[in-house]
Amino acid sequence: MENRYHQMDQISEDECLADIAKSLITKKEGFRQLWVGYTGYGKTVCNAKLAHYLIDNVRKLFVISTDQKNKEVLYPGEQVVLQTQIAKIEGQEVVIRGPAISHAADDEIDFEELAKQVWDMARVTEVPVALFVDELFDACSASQQWATHKGERKSRMERLYRQGRVMGISISATTQVPQEIPRLAYAMSDTVCIFRMDGREIEYLRRLGVIEDSDAEVLLNFTVGDFLLCRKGHPKKQCRFSL
Ligand SMILES: Nc1ncnc2c1ncn2[C@@H]1O[C@H](COP(=O)(O)OP(=O)(O)O)[C@@H](O)[C@H]1O
Ligand SMILES: [Mg+2]
Repeated sequence: MENRYHQMDQISEDECLADIAKSLITKKEGFRQLWVGYTGYGKTVCNAKLAHYLIDNVRKLFVISTDQKNKEVLYPGEQVVLQTQIAKIEGQEVVIRGPAISHAADDEIDFEELAKQVWDMARVTEVPVALFVDELFDACSASQQWATHKGERKSRMERLYRQGRVMGISISATTQVPQEIPRLAYAMSDTVCIFRMDGREIEYLRRLGVIEDSDAEVLLNFTVGDFLLCRKGHPKKQCRFSL
């Protein structure tokens, strides 16, 4: 298809997944990935594909996913209501569903508790741990602020982002509210994939330095499933996964 404004390199699904996960696959070092897009543009489909890709390509790992909303679960593993049930799971993959199963508001995932569990898990094992968060804003207390545990000044989620990499902890998160999540989530992410966006969201991502002016018009022409793979210091690539 001709695009007379801006020529963008395209990559395949496998190339994209390999790029996102490369530090884990080549160095056993955790990666940070963010999927940014309005609702219905394909974030969950892609995030879940990444989870399956890791399972297929990393010999041994633990995959913990949080999905409090979707009716149909695309993430791998057994579904549980609360993170307190993780320990009871025999397999290596688990999906924490919270109110999506119980319909009880009290079962909202406590991300600070979860971050502690992931940290403790990684501390006692050589096996890499990958955390998939479906909507990172759920780990926040207010606009651009991580939640913190009672009486604690520092957020454990933030610590997981900052210091978990060398412990083999990977984090891949989605968000439909790019301006509301902490800036650190962008700063710490090796790769950010952006679906169709416009207006204020584009302006915000441009100010953060995630995209450039020339990327904006490319994003405007995207349809469901199309996204831009951004990695600092590398040319942007256009991609879409099969359904
Ligand atoms: N790569 C794709 N190609 C075609 N359709 C897609 C693709 N990804 C998602 N979709 C469609 O969009 C719907 C919403 O996708 P989903 O991942 O749930 O979006 P989000 O998490 O961003 O709200 C899917 O159910 C599917 O019908
Ligand atoms: Mg989703």
